[in-house]
Amino acid sequence: MYTQSFSVSDGNANDTAKDSAKASAKNTVKGPKPVPVISAEEAEKIAAFEQRIADDGRIEPQDWMPEAYRKTLIRQISQHAHSEIVGMLPEGNWITRAPSLKRKAILIAKVQDEGGHGLYLYSAAETLGVSRDKMLDDLHTGRAKYSSIFNYPTLTWADVGVIGWLVDGAAIMNQIPLCRCSYGPYARAMIRVCKEESFHQRQGYESLLVMMRSTEEQRAMVQDAVNRWWWRCLAMFGPPDADSPNSALGMRYGIKRFSNDDLRQKFVDATVPQAEVLGVTLPDPNLKWNEARDHYDYGAIDWDEFWRTLNGDGPCNKERLATRVKADRDGQWVRDAALAYAQKRAAREAKEAA
Ligand code: 3HC
Repeated sequence: MYTQSFSVSDGNANDTAKDSAKASAKNTVKGPKPVPVISAEEAEKIAAFEQRIADDGRIEPQDWMPEAYRKTLIRQISQHAHSEIVGMLPEGNWITRAPSLKRKAILIAKVQDEGGHGLYLYSAAETLGVSRDKMLDDLHTGRAKYSSIFNYPTLTWADVGVIGWLVDGAAIMNQIPLCRCSYGPYARAMIRVCKEESFHQRQGYESLLVMMRSTEEQRAMVQDAVNRWWWRCLAMFGPPDADSPNSALGMRYGIKRFSNDDLRQKFVDATVPQAEVLGVTLPDPNLKWNEARDHYDYGAIDWDEFWRTLNGDGPCNKERLATRVKADRDGQWVRDAALAYAQKRAAREAKEAA
């Protein structure tokens, strides 16, 4: 077993998580402020919505939904979309330097996939009534977040493999449960995203296997990349549950199926055997199997670094944002031309039909 595939549990089998999400749906939880006075009609809509969530059904764009549900989804899906398109940058830097034609073709396909994921996710968010322009403006002006992991540089070719293995591996662990998220368009978008991420993870792992079977220098390069990326990948799952302000609402609404800490633990447990097959050491002296817990114990994550990076002070935050802003500006003429063409064509068709 050395890869992480689309068959990662989506939470369906985990009755504990499901039960706790359902149980918390019935209890009073932190979340939307209660509306002081509501009409009977509104109460009926809320009850129908709550029932659909409790039954593990899907909410669709035309359905009534509480404002807090809409806002939580817009926040999460847009941040996710931003992560996909910013995530194209660290690896995109290596397209011209890939060591062979085969690796170059794989890398181009992967980076292109990430762009596609961004598009599905922006489209899913648009069904909630937010425009793509607004979401992109929030990204470009620094109001919106994207994954902390993409604010680190890709120093060597081994970083590209490690991003596939660990970063995409962490992403799959987080995203498989989203295929069963309560919001239909998000859940459906995630099915294809996860299939493609699974390929990304496998290609990364395979390229590292090749390097590990090569020279001493290549092996050292892989180990160095693993040392630099391991802790960042653990932080990718978000702050510890006790410091995660959005988790309660996300779980109550069936958007998140597992907590940040639970997913992090699943990732550690799945990755340690993969590291053993690869022949690399994970840089954590406290990493050891805990018989009683039936999980690996692991050391302390540097949360100060995580928050610093989130707040704009990571090694590449400025560079990433500047690149996105430039790409958006450089592409404006294409959007203008496409729009002008569509308008011209619509006008001609209207004239012909008249
Ligand atoms: N990077 C940046 N911000 C993060 C973060 C991370 N790794 N982890 C948490 N945060 C932010 C949250 O967005 C939240 O910010 P906000 O309140 O201003 O919106 C704050 O830190 C507190 O975190 P919470 O745990 O309370 O937030 P959530 O409940 O939303 O959980 C999450 C965070 C687990 C990232 C969740 O939003 C999620 O599952 N998102 C969908 C998956 C996703 O966005 N993945 C992105 C990375 S992978 C990828 O996209 C590309 C792939 O190709 C590798």
